[in-house]
Amino acid sequence: MPEADTQKEAKQYYQDVPMETHGFYLRGAGNLDWGMKNRLARIFNPDSGKTVMLAIDHGYFQGPTTGLERIDLNIVPLMPHADALMLTRGILRTTVPPALTKPIVMRCSGGPSILKELSNEQLAVDIEDAIRMNVAAITLQVFIGGEFETRSIHNMTKLVDMGLKYGIPTMAVTAVGKELVRDAKYFRLACRICAELGAQFVKTYYVPEDFDTVTASCPVPIVMAGGKKIPELDALTMAYNAIQQGAAGVDMGRNIFQADAPEAMIQTVRNVVHENMKPADALDYYNTMKREMKK
Ligand code: R5P
Repeated sequence: MPEADTQKEAKQYYQDVPMETHGFYLRGAGNLDWGMKNRLARIFNPDSGKTVMLAIDHGYFQGPTTGLERIDLNIVPLMPHADALMLTRGILRTTVPPALTKPIVMRCSGGPSILKELSNEQLAVDIEDAIRMNVAAITLQVFIGGEFETRSIHNMTKLVDMGLKYGIPTMAVTAVGKELVRDAKYFRLACRICAELGAQFVKTYYVPEDFDTVTASCPVPIVMAGGKKIPELDALTMAYNAIQQGAAGVDMGRNIFQADAPEAMIQTVRNVVHENMKPADALDYYNTMKREMKK
């Protein structure tokens, strides 16, 4: 039994100090529940409001992608530098050390391989398993304009509903088929549909023209997708421009793990995203780090 609390005189209630009601720093997240905000705060750094996610989920449709042949050897050393990891439950269970406390954004859709129609996806994870794996968010592709557009949107709304039940945010990825035009008009449409139908954040591609209209018209945070490997300066410039035009971070895969020096690249991307480092300075930083690491 605790002792009776007899120190009534010593108690301090600060009646003259109003209790602060905390707002929330992420776009569109003000009315979410505590658990969901807390998970988002693990992904998006509360100081900068931004995130550097490392995407390594490519194997779910294309097998051992270049750079991801041995995740244990080549990718696990990069993980401490990421704010969050986007991956499948298979890689999480088999290869990621459970002592790593980075937030996980778990890929929850799948079905077709690169040999088939990619938009023909279904949900591929039970929410119970996502909870069991202690994930910070769940994610899937949405194929606006694709052959199985409606199915992929239904996948998303089901995932959003399951996530809402347990306080787990959903990240929708706007997937682009070969036949679709990648311009701001398309991405405004795709991102807005994802947000309207409940995604708490959206991953989408950068476009050189009017990307700021894509971020402005989407009421939830947008993270920039990396896309295919391009020269390091171009990738850093793309990340810089996306952040300056309203992105709340990046979710990059090949432009990090296929770089000449992936560990230097991810740390350089961090500077661009969290410190607004300019592309030319970032390239210098990358090259210096690369040289140091080779010594
Ligand atoms: C994209 O549609 C998938 O989510 C990928 O497997 C991955 O996240 C792409 O990353 P990146 O294009 O930066 O290599």
